Amino acid sequence: MRHFTKVQDIGDLHEALAKAKFVKENPFADQHLGKNKTLLMIFFNSSLRTRLSTQKAALNLGMNVIVLDINSGAWKLEIERGVVMDGDKPEHILEAIPVIGSYCDVIGVRSFARFENKEDDYNEKILNQFIKYSGKPVFSMEAATRHPLQSFADLITIEEYKKSARPKVVLTWAPHPKALPQAVPNSFAEWMNATDYEFVITHPEGYELSSEFVGDAKVIYDQKEAFRGADFIYAKNWSAFSDPHYGEVLSKDMNWMVDEDKMALTNDAYFMHCLPVRRNMIVSDAVIESPKSIVIPEAANRVVSAQTVLKEILINL
Ligand code: CP
Repeated sequence: MRHFTKVQDIGDLHEALAKAKFVKENPFADQHLGKNKTLLMIFFNSSLRTRLSTQKAALNLGMNVIVLDINSGAWKLEIERGVVMDGDKPEHILEAIPVIGSYCDVIGVRSFARFENKEDDYNEKILNQFIKYSGKPVFSMEAATRHPLQSFADLITIEEYKKSARPKVVLTWAPHPKALPQAVPNSFAEWMNATDYEFVITHPEGYELSSEFVGDAKVIYDQKEAFRGADFIYAKNWSAFSDPHYGEVLSKDMNWMVDEDKMALTNDAYFMHCLPVRRNMIVSDAVIESPKSIVIPEAANRVVSAQTVLKEILINL
């Protein structure tokens, strides 16, 4: 693996899960791989889990780590080619990327959808420029359309907790006060569709995800019907994908919050969320604090997914 941006990059999922299991059980077995190698993590957006878990993963592999928050302390970057740079952005991304590449061996990029131009977002304009111009392996730490390190951690977690070979996994939309990208649900759907699980997506009308990500998943608009018999409930908010409402909040319907009554319809399901989560918007206090909530082990597995991916990149340097 050179770059990691989507499920296809990880190769065979069974092999990837076996590699993740080894990493989890032997976190310091591969320190030689990262010796004298530098990971540079660039954040265009805020983070708690991705920042800490990826740094921890790199340290476990013996790497040096540099973290750059573009919005605090770095020059403001111009993204568009051909503009007269007479505004407030003194540096062009076309110089910044190869300069950054010259300081490291591997680059992690966090760059959310900006909701200014759907085509730019869905063409991964920023992430792909790092792949094209840095000369270094690049992995996504959540881009405009996908969050593969999160989805890989989600899959590892489901494998650890599942009680049947083919669990029913339900991705449910839930309300949120702000417009959020589709990256987490897109990516979760992409990874779940790569398994043989029974996978269902439920959301209000108007919140249809791109068909590229929905794939063969069953879409059920009645949330309670979708929850029946579920083994895992994966809650997430996202904004509208379809034109002309791309990036808009169409509903804040609190009837879509995950609460104990809805969880009672499931097959004693585990509750999952990528975090951070808005309590009593997305999920009630009672559900997230219940013994069936696995949001903390799910977040802990972010170290495992990041370390498994970084290890593969280092092996192929
Ligand atoms: N789930 C996740 O990516 O968390 P952060 O945004 O805190 O990194």
